This record gives sequence, C-alpha cells and structure tokens, in this order.
Amino acid sequence: MQDATPTDRPGHGTFDVAVARSRQLEIQLENNPAHYRVLTGDRPTGRLHIGHLFGSLQNRVRLQNLGVRTFILIADYQVLTDREVFDSIADSVHNLVIDYLAVGLEPQRGQTSIFPHSHVPELNQLLLPFLTLVSQAELARNPTVKEEIQASGMRNINAGMYTYPVHQAADILFCKANVVPVGKDQLPHLEMSRTIARRFNERFAGNQPVFPEPQPLLSHAPLILGLDGSQKMSKSRGNAILISDDEDTTARLIKKAKTDSQRHISYQPDSRPEVSNLLTLCSMCGGESPEAIAERIGDGGSGLLKKTLTDQLNAYLAPIRARRRAFAKDPAYIREVLRTGIEEAREIGAATLNEVRAVMNMQI
Ligand code: TRP
Repeated sequence: MQDATPTDRPGHGTFDVAVARSRQLEIQLENNPAHYRVLTGDRPTGRLHIGHLFGSLQNRVRLQNLGVRTFILIADYQVLTDREVFDSIADSVHNLVIDYLAVGLEPQRGQTSIFPHSHVPELNQLLLPFLTLVSQAELARNPTVKEEIQASGMRNINAGMYTYPVHQAADILFCKANVVPVGKDQLPHLEMSRTIARRFNERFAGNQPVFPEPQPLLSHAPLILGLDGSQKMSKSRGNAILISDDEDTTARLIKKAKTDSQRHISYQPDSRPEVSNLLTLCSMCGGESPEAIAERIGDGGSGLLKKTLTDQLNAYLAPIRARRRAFAKDPAYIREVLRTGIEEAREIGAATLNEVRAVMNMQI
C-alpha cells in the first residue's frame, strides 16, 4: 500500500509539487470552468474573520464567478471531534451562511450549493465503505490530526478525531468534486481522499472509475497573522477582526495590535512580522503594494500605520457589512438557502450512492 501521508519537510519537495500543480490547475479552471466541480468545507465554530475573507472566501467568490459549480459544505459533525460544547452549532451555521452571502457567494444563481453535511444522509453513508479502505495505522499517522489532538488539550480523544479525514473523503467524493481549495494543513486529508477514491475504484469499479481523484487548489493569498503577531488569526485567541465586527470594534482591535519599537515603517516580513502583517492587510484592501504603503507612511510610525489600516479596512468592509446586516434580518431566507442546498446535495448524493451500491453488488 502506498503511504497516504505526504510530508512537507523542507527539501522533501511534496509541498512544492502541490504548489506547481495548483498553478497549472488555476489556468485550466479559467480555460474550462465547466469541467470542474469545486467543494470547500468549513467547521461551524464561530464567525468568520478577515483572515478567512482574504485567505479563502474571496477565492471562492472568484471561482463562482468563473462559472464553476461550487459546493460549500458546513462540517457540523467535525465540530464534535475536538470539543464538548455543541449547543452553539446551529447559531454558528446560521452566521456562517450570513457571512458567505455577505462576501458575495450567490446560491440563488444556481451554481453554488451551501449545506451542512449532517443533513445529507447519502453523503454520510459513504463513510462506511470508505472506512474499510484505509488502515488504522494510516489514520494514526495523519500529521494534521496529531496536531489537533495536541492543540485540543483533551485527555480522551474520541474515535471521530481519527476517522474524520475519512468522513472528509465522503464530503468531497459524494458529489465527485475534482477541485478542493485548501490551506496547507488540509493536504494530508486531501491525500487521504485521493487514496480512498483510487482504492475504491481499484477494488470495486474495475475499469469504470466511480470517483475522480480530487486535486488540491492551494491559495496564493499571503498568510494573515493574528493581530498579536501569532501564526494564526483566530477568534478564540482574541487576535482576529470579524467580518461581523462594527467599525469601532475594528478600530479598537487595530489600536491594540502588536507592533515593534522601530519608528520608521518598513515592509520586512521576516524581521518585522507584526508591522508587515498590518501592511499586508492594508494592501489587501487597496491593491497598493505593502512596500509602497510602508514608504508613504515612513516616519509616521505605527500610529499612522494603524490609522491608515483602520480607515482602509473599514471602507473595504463597509459594503460587505451592510449586506451582512440586511441578511441577518432575514432568517427565513437563510433557512431557505440551506434547504435548497441540502436538496441539491441529496439529489447528487443519491445518484452517487446508487452507483456505489451497483459496483459493490449491494443492490436489491
Ligand atoms: N477539515 C476542514 C477544516 O478544519 C473542514 C472540512 C470538512 C473540509 N470537510 C471538508 C475542507 C471537505 C475541505 C473539504 O477546515
């Protein structure tokens, strides 16, 4: 059996290969959008922040606008793998949909389906045959799962934590998605989905493959750090600006952001990560390069940098936030979006499950 776990140790090259393939795929998507089916997934653990916006949401909107059929899956079952609190899942799902609509995803155009996977039984049923296609050892060495176990601080790890990458394969394959936009941490999961697709086809489907091997599409947006300079912007660390925050909160959060003791502003991501991150954010809002913004601010120092970012970010987010407020007033529409998404997903899932049963000789 092939090793299902890629490594991205420096010098190993697996990550570089994935980046190169992604660039190719990007060109093919633009040339032939009808050939592709994109699936992305989010855990409903809280509201989305500007790291999500610049890192992945804008890319989804771009793919949608290219005319690619897009599935946006809300992975509510996955939330249960690493936390014991689940009373807020429904509220998170609801707010996730509001964030999606606010940034410009448009399910009403008929090319984008938004749905929680817990409501698609046909998808979940694929988990059972898929679990028989991977070994326990393969599950145990998934590097992303290992990191999450560490980070969760939980003493008892449930079996869902080890098996969710197989469930994620069901998320991706139930609709035969062939492109999955992801960050680097998701590459081991995608490799597992590819392995499962391949093994399923080999074992059951002879020369008529049922599943495509989904390809990762890596984001080339610059990484957005937390406002405290830490590697990840995240709500639970209190270092994030939410899409749903108001202008004053945004100003307050930026005011508190960590900088350094040098007055002159320069863009040096390696030696001045915090200042450079604020410049990157400014640049994402206006299209001007971070170097040019740094030059303009110069001896104005971090005070002027923060004021510039506050003004630019609030202006950039204003129309998104206005749409957000409007959608938040219409819960019936949000439910309608989910109901339609679930219906579309179930129809496709039922067709796939039929094929799966046929090749497995389980039809009656
Ligand atoms: N594991 C992903 C995350 O933690 C969420 C996810 C669930 C996902 N199912 C997916 C991502 C399918 C891509 C494809 O962010």
